[in-house]
Amino acid sequence: MTSHTGRPDTDARPWLDASLPVEQRVDHLMAAMTLAEKVAQTHQVANIHPDDDAEQIRAGRISSSLYASGATAGNERDEGVLVGNIDAAQRHAVEGSRLGIPILFGRDVIHGHRTVFPIPLGLAASFDPELLEEAAAIAAREAAVDGVAWTFTPMVDISEEPRWGRVAESLGETPVLSGRLAAALVRGFQGPDPSDRDRLASCAKHFVGYGLAAGGRDYDTVSVGENTLRNLHLRPFKDAVDAGVTTVMASFNDVDGTPMHAHERLIREVLKDEWGFDGVVVADWNGIGQIVFQGVAADRREAAKLAIHAGVDLDMVSASYLDHLEELVESGEVDVALVDDAVRRVLRLKFRLGLFEHPYATREGASNAPTPQTRSVARRAAHASHVLVKNDGVLPLGEDAGRVLLSGPFVDDGDALLGTWVLDGRGEEVATPGDALRERLGHRVTVADGRFPDVTLMQARAADTSVLLLGEHRSRSGEAQSVVDIGLPPGQLELVRAVAAYGKPLVAVVYTGRPLDLSEVLDLADAVVVVWHPGIEAGPALADVLLGDVEPYGRLPMTFPLSTGHIPTSTHQRPTGRLIRADVDRKEGRYIDALTYPRLPFGRGLSYTTVEYGEPKLSDATLVGDDSVALSVTVTNTGDRPCREVVQLYFRDPVAQVTRPLVELSDWAVVELEPGAARDVLFDVRAEQFAYYGRDLAARVDDGAIELLTGPDAASLQSVTLTIQTA
Ligand code: BGC
Repeated sequence: MTSHTGRPDTDARPWLDASLPVEQRVDHLMAAMTLAEKVAQTHQVANIHPDDDAEQIRAGRISSSLYASGATAGNERDEGVLVGNIDAAQRHAVEGSRLGIPILFGRDVIHGHRTVFPIPLGLAASFDPELLEEAAAIAAREAAVDGVAWTFTPMVDISEEPRWGRVAESLGETPVLSGRLAAALVRGFQGPDPSDRDRLASCAKHFVGYGLAAGGRDYDTVSVGENTLRNLHLRPFKDAVDAGVTTVMASFNDVDGTPMHAHERLIREVLKDEWGFDGVVVADWNGIGQIVFQGVAADRREAAKLAIHAGVDLDMVSASYLDHLEELVESGEVDVALVDDAVRRVLRLKFRLGLFEHPYATREGASNAPTPQTRSVARRAAHASHVLVKNDGVLPLGEDAGRVLLSGPFVDDGDALLGTWVLDGRGEEVATPGDALRERLGHRVTVADGRFPDVTLMQARAADTSVLLLGEHRSRSGEAQSVVDIGLPPGQLELVRAVAAYGKPLVAVVYTGRPLDLSEVLDLADAVVVVWHPGIEAGPALADVLLGDVEPYGRLPMTFPLSTGHIPTSTHQRPTGRLIRADVDRKEGRYIDALTYPRLPFGRGLSYTTVEYGEPKLSDATLVGDDSVALSVTVTNTGDRPCREVVQLYFRDPVAQVTRPLVELSDWAVVELEPGAARDVLFDVRAEQFAYYGRDLAARVDDGAIELLTGPDAASLQSVTLTIQTA
């Protein structure tokens, strides 16, 4: 409603006065609302349509809409978001409803919108928060041009389960890497002020424990205690909250029998009360309705009651709140204060996003098509995600590589290179490996899609060097894409064996959304590069790395196990009574039919040069109270090419109140070294880095020894002992 002056009528609608603090605006609006209008603010629908839903919107019965194609992880295309539709729906809400509360539009903008970056697990391989922040800011702007105001990312579920397809969306297996990168993504999406029209609200998900789904089966049950949750799984959420994330999504799983959408202890008590999170907790898709399927509520009415008590503020698509909350309040089963709390949070978000000031998204002449600038960031991000895990000297490919065969289904299939959860990226905009290598190698390269393995064999025989593009299609990873076997898709290994039998140089490039069993490929190929699903600049990035114009510098953000049967393996394995001081790479274990060690440890990533690490040294052997000590390690480039080295610091707490990880990533530093150069890399070490939750679930730091370990990955470490003296 505007007055005759064209300015908002702040007498009739004081909440429209943008000069007032947000909390006061929320108070004014709440005071004007009926219970039904309040309840409507807790209701999110999917794929709202301005004509079909006009009546509901004008009746003020819809708070938010997401645009999504269901549980397909973006593996199926929808029609895209149409900013015209968004604005038409918004006009009904702002100009046609009693209170004029704008609708909040959300969409899964997971690793880029039109400019598609590598999948999150690939981005995590960069160990580069600034790069992720830059990528997220680009994605935010592009999505905002389409009318999106809220994205459901970052996913910070920690997992040591490669069978679970959603690891593709994760930021890896360690809380420190995951937490720092999540905070960077939140900053990138939201910016310093989320009301900036080029920014979005972001969402840390899925709260909590989702990565522990039994057997790696998506949505499955989770048995975990609060101590493990606090020491591992809650940490990246806390980092996202500290970075100012405005929303958090509840997870589909139960935790020890309680569905997360009904988990009052974890959502209301820990997230909201203990951490002071004042944003919105959104349900996952039909997550409230699913409490019924989980057998913990008889019907959606009871589910609504449980979820509102637990602290879920916004009901994604189940309509349980819309249909039942009013009556639950009237019957006295739900205190209206709980509804008020949820509504306040939703309205607070809408004010924070500036939706009341600029509800409409259409911008004259604005384009979100990828530009040379956004593509160059995507190319850098793809470089940073490429992890060289084996090289017997065949890479980089020089003149001596002779005639090169580039073969495999990814050569020219733009769509397959984008990765899971891409709703708006376009396959035809992807620069493919085929094009990039044709351009760079001209007549020296034969490019083939490998449809006929017999032809591939003939081509490999005629070539001097074969580069096979292997791995899983993007639609085999992501939501609901669990597998029982993390081996390569059928047929690929046979081809590798046959090509390797020629005894000529063989390079394997692996496209994947999860750690795969690469054991035999690693044995047979002369070089192996894991490139995940790299996004829109897949081709040029690969050419740059294969030809040595860019040094490979990604590092594995998840452990690659020896085989499917070895799962789980990760850096945060805890000691047992029989392996109490085992190193993670100790080739023993508790299977009698196989050795037990990671095939590729967390943090692994080679360069085209050689790097040597000295022993870590401490400025002081004792750390007292709040002081810090400096840990230094000399890193030397002993080869003849430059490198970007990710120097990793881990720790082990040998005696604690609860079992602690065998090694845990604590920090890392990135150094660039010219050939022959050496650098003393310094880490500032403080006692708080070793804090953990004890048996009483309180955070603590103990007096005594801490082992600090440095090196290029979790299995190649040298250690020094530090004594902690808390007072
Ligand atoms: C997924 C979420 C996603 C939501 C909306 C759910 O199935 O678990 O991660 O944000 O759908 O698309």
